[in-house]
Amino acid sequence: METLKRTKVKDLLQSTAYGTEVTVKGWVRTFRNNQFIAINDGSTINNIQAVVDFNTADEALLKRLTTGAAISVTGELIESLGKGQKVEVKVKTLEILGDSDAEKFPLQPKKHSLEFLREIAHLRFRTNTFNAVFKVRHALAYAIHKFFNDKGFVYLHTPVITASDAEGAGEMFRVTALDFNNPPRTETGEVDFKQDFFGKSTNLTVSGQLEAELAAMAFGEVYTFGPTFRAENSNTTRHLAEFWMIEPEVAFNDLNDNMNLAEELLKYVIKHALETCGDEIEFLKNRLLEEEKTKPMDERSELDLTAKLNFCLENDFERLTYTEAIEILKNSNPNKKKKFKYLIDKWGADLQSEHERYLVEKHFKKPVILTDYPKEIKAFYMRQNDDGTTVRAMDILFPGIGEIIGGSQREERLDLLEKRMGEMHIPVDELYWYLDTRRFGTAPHAGFGLGFERLVLFVTGMTNIRDVIPFPRAPKTAEF
Ligand code: 4AD
Ligand code: MG
Repeated sequence: METLKRTKVKDLLQSTAYGTEVTVKGWVRTFRNNQFIAINDGSTINNIQAVVDFNTADEALLKRLTTGAAISVTGELIESLGKGQKVEVKVKTLEILGDSDAEKFPLQPKKHSLEFLREIAHLRFRTNTFNAVFKVRHALAYAIHKFFNDKGFVYLHTPVITASDAEGAGEMFRVTALDFNNPPRTETGEVDFKQDFFGKSTNLTVSGQLEAELAAMAFGEVYTFGPTFRAENSNTTRHLAEFWMIEPEVAFNDLNDNMNLAEELLKYVIKHALETCGDEIEFLKNRLLEEEKTKPMDERSELDLTAKLNFCLENDFERLTYTEAIEILKNSNPNKKKKFKYLIDKWGADLQSEHERYLVEKHFKKPVILTDYPKEIKAFYMRQNDDGTTVRAMDILFPGIGEIIGGSQREERLDLLEKRMGEMHIPVDELYWYLDTRRFGTAPHAGFGLGFERLVLFVTGMTNIRDVIPFPRAPKTAEF
């Protein structure tokens, strides 16, 4: 039975080798009129049509051509008369590789809601939407590595299990091998982590930054790209408990260099996605247009997905300080008319996503980089400004997303760093290895963290972060 090596649907759809015999393997999307099989093999969101001659075909076999079944088809590649396709396969032999019970298979040849598909995430790969989303995700991951590789950065693998809280925010998942029901106790009754696997209390990493800083002070330019974990109970369309982060760290860079690198990276990877995922982005653009038809006019985007991505490439990001942003927000209409949930009345307030989105979507109408935040609302490692109140932080805000990047120039002066750590109750002793970089050949340096799923969210035009990672982890969500 085994004849030719299979040809991918993507290649067949571009072929004009009419008359040659080909083999296609894939999954049945639809079977119409007892004659037309739409086959998808994942290589493209488009299907190839295979035509069976029902006069000669085995009737029992045709009955098994149900949505979801895996099949192998061999036949002649012919020019198609049907509209919407150039080629099709005239079936000579047909084999069912794996049946799919039409009564039980949850995916039907109709539109399913994203919420429903999230419940069957193990099968949602077989839909056009998720095929497109994860192709774009792949393209973005590849482009990130290429961008840094071409610049001479070293890709650094930082540990997933750590004993430190890099952000000092206390949002960590504990890692332990102790018997949960009967853990060893110290004399004072606390759980004795000295007897745990690592001989100390450990957790899943919230960021690879601290380790990346160590390597940057030797290689000059490094980046991480790995999973990070946050036990923050944020049930939003922008937060995951497990997400992937890209963290470049560069010796001798100041905040200005840091902003330039971040803007260049974002533009590079978006351009790569546009160039290599034309079909997918076109499909996702139309999906978004359909979705937005259900919303009131004033909530719809002014630009479609492709236009929005191109707009991002063609315009410089707006750069301003936190202090300047507060002035704009204070005097904004939604603030005066008390439309913001959190009103901006004084300098020092942490910006909520409603404020970030106002700046990006209403005021500047383009990506924004905010710098020099109050030190009280930022992490301990950021370089302190001479004003004594702000730090050299930067957040990049994107339309529809809010914060996509957070970063800073780092505090390279040992005395000032130790003092700030003390004020923020960060254990100076435990982080002796981090402080050693400041003891031995310290130098100015800077870096940032790009939330990978927020980037994928932006480029795909999806609206919930759980739909751009294959198996989302979020509060009360760890299925599959
Ligand atoms: O702003 P964050 O917390 O910064 C850091 O972790 C620094 N150590 C980065 C650095 O300077 N090397 O996180 C960086 C980015 C955010 O801008 C956001 O895009 C993403 O990570 N992010 C999340 N994405 C999804 N779910 C969450 N819960 C996220 N928290 C942060
Ligand atoms: Mg942040």
